[in-house]
Amino acid sequence: MRVLLMGMYFTDQEKLANSSSLLPPLMKPAKNKSGGRGGAAPLPPGKTGWPVVGESLEFLSTGWKGHPEKFIFDRISKYSSHVFKTHLLGEKAAVFCGASGNKFLFSNENKLVQAWWPSSVDKVFPSSSQSSSKEEAIKMRKMLPNFLKPEALQRYVGIMDHIAQRHFADGWENKENVVVFPLTKNYTFWLACRLFVSVEDPNHVNKFAEPFNLLAAGLISIPVDLPGTPFNRAIKASNFIRKELVSIIKQRKIDLAEGKASPTQDILSHMLLTSDENGKFMTELDIADKILGLLIGGHDTASSACAFIVKYLAELPEIYQGVYNEQMEIANSKKPGELLNWDDIQKMKYSWNVACEVLRLAPPLQGAFREALTDFMFNGFSIPKGWKIYWSANSTHINPECFPDPKKFDPSRFEGSGPAPYTFVPFGGGPRMCPGKEYARLEILVFMHHLVKRFRWEKMIPDEKIVVNPMPVPAKGLPVRLYPHKA
Ligand code: HEM
Repeated sequence: MRVLLMGMYFTDQEKLANSSSLLPPLMKPAKNKSGGRGGAAPLPPGKTGWPVVGESLEFLSTGWKGHPEKFIFDRISKYSSHVFKTHLLGEKAAVFCGASGNKFLFSNENKLVQAWWPSSVDKVFPSSSQSSSKEEAIKMRKMLPNFLKPEALQRYVGIMDHIAQRHFADGWENKENVVVFPLTKNYTFWLACRLFVSVEDPNHVNKFAEPFNLLAAGLISIPVDLPGTPFNRAIKASNFIRKELVSIIKQRKIDLAEGKASPTQDILSHMLLTSDENGKFMTELDIADKILGLLIGGHDTASSACAFIVKYLAELPEIYQGVYNEQMEIANSKKPGELLNWDDIQKMKYSWNVACEVLRLAPPLQGAFREALTDFMFNGFSIPKGWKIYWSANSTHINPECFPDPKKFDPSRFEGSGPAPYTFVPFGGGPRMCPGKEYARLEILVFMHHLVKRFRWEKMIPDEKIVVNPMPVPAKGLPVRLYPHKA
């Protein structure tokens, strides 16, 4: 039997053969043969690859081939260590694996490590918090969750439902076949435009959509700023979008002053009207950058998750049935025309367990970087100040020690107290955990509601390849044949 695991098709035998060598026990400090500095603890084992590019090509290309976890697990196995050194995207780096690596990084945020993005991201967001002062970044980061916490989001559920209805009417209904990934992108982008900046008109939304795709494609790329490179196109797209956002912000300020806009209509209004603890308001450019960050953070991630939900539900009829039963109970409890509300979302427990299992097997973000603020030790190895550190969701998500029989799709893993701490990390953890987690939960559940309420479906390409660049997506966009439910 062939099963899909993080975009890679393994036979059971292949997977078994792999898994036994993936996860050796945590290592004691190694002998000083891998670059130790004098009598000090050694650097982690590993190699730094080619000059300048280091191991970046292997790192990126395992994703392009659909199995980003290979970069990690090959090295865990080769060096018999849960931490190894490498050279990624122009930087000396260490990769921390497993729950203990996640715990260490997430608990030491702003103590031993701080967030770091590749220079490609810095250059695409020239005035983002990465290049302003560290304090500014921390302050801003504290404010973000305020705009996205459950209390703030409750009133958006009805709006999400309304946009989802329009999206399904436009993109899915009365069609025999659809290509799913462009549609899920369209859905999450439309929602974000409406809920972040009240842009709702499909033509205006489309004006943003193309530059956004260019921006997302060039964000994690080799930062060569020459005409025609993805990086160059991303910078141009970023400038265009920021200009558009600044003009929306200026207009909103006028509308708020004249009482034509509401203080609670979207995240932009909230940002304009919220000051920090010193009474200082964000500048227009800061707000534009924050919104841009939210649009980027929230767009492709959630659309990848929605596309993989469609894929797994097509492959697993009994899971589909469970989601269908739960959603139809909610649908049948509504009066005609009544929109979904917060209480309905709380009832979607099984559906959310299914979504979590999808996020475990196909995490939209593979991991993220940190920077060492000082020299420190981890697992007996020395990590020098300034090194970049990468945590990888796959190092726990498909680790049999964290998730027994990891390739099996089993939403019951999330029942009760759920997975052990630091093992299920699609949204990261600690102070820098994704601020959009709750927003993502809402948009994913509203999507599942509308999808299963209308259709069953089957995949048109049974063994469609998965590409991870940097999000996992089905190579042909996941074409499916739709079977609407009989009225
Ligand atoms: C399924 C959907 C999503 C997934 C899997 C996801 C995952 C993540 C992860 C892993 C991080 C990095 C954490 C780290 O550095 O350790 C992150 C950061 C971030 N996410 Fe999400 N995210 C999702 C949806 C969203 C949404 C909908 C928004 C916006 C509404 C959003 C906004 C952000 C922002 C702004 C950051 C950067 C936070 C910072 O630098 O402190 N994300 N996300």
